[in-house]
Amino acid sequence: MPTATNSPAFTEAELTAETERLFRQLLTADCAPGRKWDYEGCRRIAPLTLEINRLKKEQDAVILTHSYVEPELVYGVGDFKGDSYYLSLQARDAKAKKIVFAGVVFMAETAKILSPQATVVVPDGGSGCSLADSMTGEGVRWLKSVYPDAAVVCYINSTAEVKAECDVCVTSGNVYDIVAQLPQRRIVFVPDRLMAENIRAELKRRGSDKEIISSDGTCIVHDHFDLAAIRDARARFPGLKVVAHPECTPEIAAAADYVGSTGGMMKYVKTTAAPYFLMLTECGLVGRLQVEAPEKHFIGGCQLCPYMKLNSLEKVLQVMKAPRPDQIITLDEGLRRRAARSIERMFELTPATPVQG
Ligand code: 13P
Ligand code: SF4
Repeated sequence: MPTATNSPAFTEAELTAETERLFRQLLTADCAPGRKWDYEGCRRIAPLTLEINRLKKEQDAVILTHSYVEPELVYGVGDFKGDSYYLSLQARDAKAKKIVFAGVVFMAETAKILSPQATVVVPDGGSGCSLADSMTGEGVRWLKSVYPDAAVVCYINSTAEVKAECDVCVTSGNVYDIVAQLPQRRIVFVPDRLMAENIRAELKRRGSDKEIISSDGTCIVHDHFDLAAIRDARARFPGLKVVAHPECTPEIAAAADYVGSTGGMMKYVKTTAAPYFLMLTECGLVGRLQVEAPEKHFIGGCQLCPYMKLNSLEKVLQVMKAPRPDQIITLDEGLRRRAARSIERMFELTPATPVQG
């Protein structure tokens, strides 16, 4: 007879209840471009979500889902959903034996840095990030040797090795406030060149004369949104609000009505009365808003992150049942402790505002 884990037998009543739960959650979200979730689609994934949720209890696991992963992960199996800052707080405070991070590898690494006692796994070991992949620890050491008087700040979209070399880590939600607070005039900021340009513009607006030196990484999702598309959308949709992430170019940021973290963007859309929104970010965030703010209208424009889209319910189930070595996050303890210092400094310097999930 097969074991419960290999072949769970859910009753028809359990499957129906789960299908209905999923349908209630997902019915306003797209399951494919321009196609909404239907009852049959929810029935198809119900055995997967039931089995994953059963394994979570059996294994004392929690699933953290970044807002860019698909809604069936966020609402089907996720325990915590949100932006990088919110999820790093949840990872730090997690009491569970296992953390499954449905996001990308640098996020799972951050969870391991903050919760070393937990087994941290990632559904796809190849879920990189063009920003994190653009900078090495050696690259930061070189920048430090050239600018020894500078504070070294890393965006959370960086490897543990890079975080270990930095004075403080930041996220898109606290970057301006943290950089503004640092006593040094000169700041080395890695790895996002466009965010560095946005920091320069914001600090200038605040009257600060800090010098920002950056490396050359960009986010392949946010670096090529087009000003002409904003102009065209504004002409076609009067009253439109344009919402962007600080990984976009400064030209896009200047043309947007709101620029902020994924959590900030969600809050802005939910609390802003406007007939239409153009979301210059990853489409997963639009999926979350379709679920949580179904009365809002989105006119497209979002892009897919190929790394975030490597996550799936099937991979979450596989990684919970039998993780491969490339799906398990392991870190040298000395490196982990040094990386933890830069993240703990971030927690200390982040203004105490309510954190968005
Ligand atoms: P947030 O910190 O705003 O969630 O962004 C993470 C990310 O990868 C954006 O591309
Ligand atoms: Fe990295 Fe950009 Fe994908 Fe975010 S959206 S994970 S920054 S590649």
